[in-house]
Amino acid sequence: MRSFLGRDILSLKDFDRDELDHILEVAEELAPIARNRQNTDLLKDKILAVAFYQPSTRTRLAHEAAMLRLGGKVTGYSDAKMTRAGDFYQESIKDTIKMLECYGDVIVMRHFEQGAPHEAARWAQVPIINGGDGWGEHPTQILTDLYTVQQAKGRIDGLNWLAVGDMRMRTMHSLAYALTNYDCPITFVAPPEISLTDEFKAELAGYDLEFREVDHVEEAIAEADVILVEPVVQPDYTKSRDERDGDVGLTPANYRITRELLEAKAKSDAVLLHSLPRMDEIPTDVDDTPWAYYWQEAFNGVVMRMALLALVLGARE
Ligand code: CP
Repeated sequence: MRSFLGRDILSLKDFDRDELDHILEVAEELAPIARNRQNTDLLKDKILAVAFYQPSTRTRLAHEAAMLRLGGKVTGYSDAKMTRAGDFYQESIKDTIKMLECYGDVIVMRHFEQGAPHEAARWAQVPIINGGDGWGEHPTQILTDLYTVQQAKGRIDGLNWLAVGDMRMRTMHSLAYALTNYDCPITFVAPPEISLTDEFKAELAGYDLEFREVDHVEEAIAEADVILVEPVVQPDYTKSRDERDGDVGLTPANYRITRELLEAKAKSDAVLLHSLPRMDEIPTDVDDTPWAYYWQEAFNGVVMRMALLALVLGARE
């Protein structure tokens, strides 16, 4: 297995099965630190720099919480408009990263441009973690989701996945890449105008991944062991900020996971994931059902980022 020390986390295409297994093992080892709300000194000499060019609640704060739990320190920005990258100068990613690598030992970047963290990694001497790039990928979120499923079901292999939502979403791309390492058939459900692109399907055809597309969640929910949902009513992820503009509409029934649907058709032990934020695709009355794992998933976001920081900074082999 390649060493994780100094490694970038840019795409789940870059990780093989042994490496994914190892990340999940390290997460399991470190989880009690977060569960017991302890702080340790595992990364006490390290600084995380956050560079966020798009809004975030979970990804930025989970990375920050993870670093603090491991005894490290945090610097950076959550709004690039208040930096020289976002004002008159429009400072380039190269010039910005040449600064940030002086201030931090690892950098997590979220950007509205697909490939921006990859561009950062070209210039950085420190590891770059992709916190979501345009419609590209969101690798740390899907690693969190794999860990959540592993915890809930004791395994990932052999589980049937149902993925519902906007297939342009970066999580969907990372999910598909991740599942190419497992024996996990997956069914995708999306509105036709935001379904899997022909280009992405052609790419997936090159992997050993069994996938199909259907029109309505009702066609696939009964076989699903894992149901991963994203909104279909959502902003443009290629913009730095997308304010809500009037009535954005409701989610059609084809892409909603309601309590009634779960009770009527879902396996009793299916795991329902949502990376959040949500609109109306999972109504709030699902929250207190046994299917709802998205709060656990949010907590595991800290655990997974602890594992990744410990690995790329050399606190774990
Ligand atoms: N799941 C996720 O990426 O959430 P944020 O946009 O709040 O970071």
